[in-house]
Amino acid sequence: MWLVNFLVLLELAGCGLATFTPQLLFQTPNGSSFENLAVRPSSQLLITSTVSPTLFTLDPTAANPTLDEVFTFPNASGLSGIAEYRPDVYAIIAAERNATAVMDVPGSVVIWSLDFTAGGAPTARRAARIPQSMLLNGLGTVPGHPDLVVAADSVLGAAFEMNVRTGAVRILIQDEATTPIGPSAPAPVLGINGLHVHAGLLYFTNSQRQTFARVPLVNGTVEVLGSGEFDDFTFDSEGRAWVATNPGSLTLFTPLKNGTIVEETVVNTVLNGPSSAAFGRDGARETKILYMTTRGGQIVAVDTSGGD
Ligand SMILES: *[C@@H]1O[C@H](CO)[C@@H](O)[C@H](O)[C@H]1NC(C)=O
Ligand SMILES: *[C@@H]1O[C@H](CO)[C@@H](O)[C@H](O)[C@H]1NC(C)=O
Ligand SMILES: *[C@@H]1O[C@H](CO)[C@@H](O)[C@H](O)[C@H]1NC(C)=O
Ligand SMILES: *[C@@H]1O[C@H](CO)[C@@H](O)[C@H](O)[C@H]1NC(C)=O
Ligand SMILES: *[C@@H]1O[C@H](CO)[C@@H](O)[C@H](O)[C@H]1NC(C)=O
Repeated sequence: MWLVNFLVLLELAGCGLATFTPQLLFQTPNGSSFENLAVRPSSQLLITSTVSPTLFTLDPTAANPTLDEVFTFPNASGLSGIAEYRPDVYAIIAAERNATAVMDVPGSVVIWSLDFTAGGAPTARRAARIPQSMLLNGLGTVPGHPDLVVAADSVLGAAFEMNVRTGAVRILIQDEATTPIGPSAPAPVLGINGLHVHAGLLYFTNSQRQTFARVPLVNGTVEVLGSGEFDDFTFDSEGRAWVATNPGSLTLFTPLKNGTIVEETVVNTVLNGPSSAAFGRDGARETKILYMTTRGGQIVAVDTSGGD
C-alpha cells in the first residue's frame, strides 16, 4: 500500500509569496539540541531534548527568555515527543538513548503523563511502556479521543497508538511508507519521525525516505504529499501543515479547495536544524506565532500573521 501519489503539482517558488523572518528567543550556550515542544495554556513553552532527561520551560513573552527546569524523569537520558492530551496534561516520551547505536536501550522507553492542573510542581505518572520500541520519536494526540496518543518509532518504522489511561498499546501502521530504507542508506536509520492525526488522517514524515505523507486511520492507502528532509510539524486552524525542514528551513503545505496541495518554503533565514514546531495559543496574535525548536539549541518565534 505504498502508493506514490504526488499531489504537489504547483511550483510557486519565486512567485513572490510571503516568507517570514524567525526571531531568535533563546540559544543554548553549549549548542546542545532541542527536540520537541508543547505550548501550555499559559503560553509557556515545554521543551524536550534528546540529550537531557529534564523537561525545560521558557516564557516566550519575556523580554529576555530563560530556560528553566520543570521536571527530570528517572532512568532516562533523553526525551522526545510531547503532546497535550488533556488541558495542561502532557504525554512525554522518555528513554535511555544509546548514542553509539542511535537507538533507545531496549526496554527503557516510557510514555509519561505529566499533569500541571493542580498548579505548582507537576505530578508524573508512567502511562504506558513499549518494551519492543527501538527509538520512539514524535508524539501526537487523537482528536476526539482524549485517552489516546500516537507515537512514531523511527527505527522499527511503526506508528503506535497508546491509551494513556490503561497503558494499552497497538501498532497503527508499519509498512514501506513508515519504515527506514535500511542500513544501506546514510545513517541514522530513521523512518517515520513526526506524526499527527488531523481530520481523520494520520500525517507523518519519514526521514530516510524524505517524505511527508498521510493515510486514513482505518485501512487506508498512503498518499505522499511532498519530498524533503522533514522532521516534526504542526497544523494551523486553516488545516495547513508547517513542517520543520532540514538543514535549515520551514515548509508550508496548503490544501486548496480543489484538492491540490501547495508546498512552499516560508522562512527567509537559515535555521540550525529545525526539529519541531507548535503554535502559540493565548490570544489572536499569539495563535499566529509559530514556535520552533532546533537541533542547534535554538528556540525561535515565527510571526506568520504578516510576511515580507
Ligand atoms: C548544555 O546546556 C543545557 C541547557 O542550558 C544544559 O541542560 C546541559 O546540561 C548543557 N550540557 C552540557 C554538556 O554542559
Ligand atoms: C530505575 O531502574 C532501576 C533498575 O531497573 C530500578 O531499580 C529503579 O527502581 C528505577 N528507578 C525509578 C525511579 O524508576
Ligand atoms: C549501544 O550500542 C552499541 C553499538 O551497537 C553496543 O555495542 C552497546 O552494547 C549498546 N549499549 C547499550 C547500553 O545497550
Ligand atoms: C480493515 O482490514 C482488515 C484486514 O483486511 C479487515 O479485517 C477489516 O474489516 C477492515 N476494516 C474496515 C473498517 O474496513
Ligand atoms: C487547483 O487550483 C490551482 C489554483 O487555482 C490550480 O493551479 C490547479 O491546477 C488546480 N488543480 C486541479 C487538479 O484542478
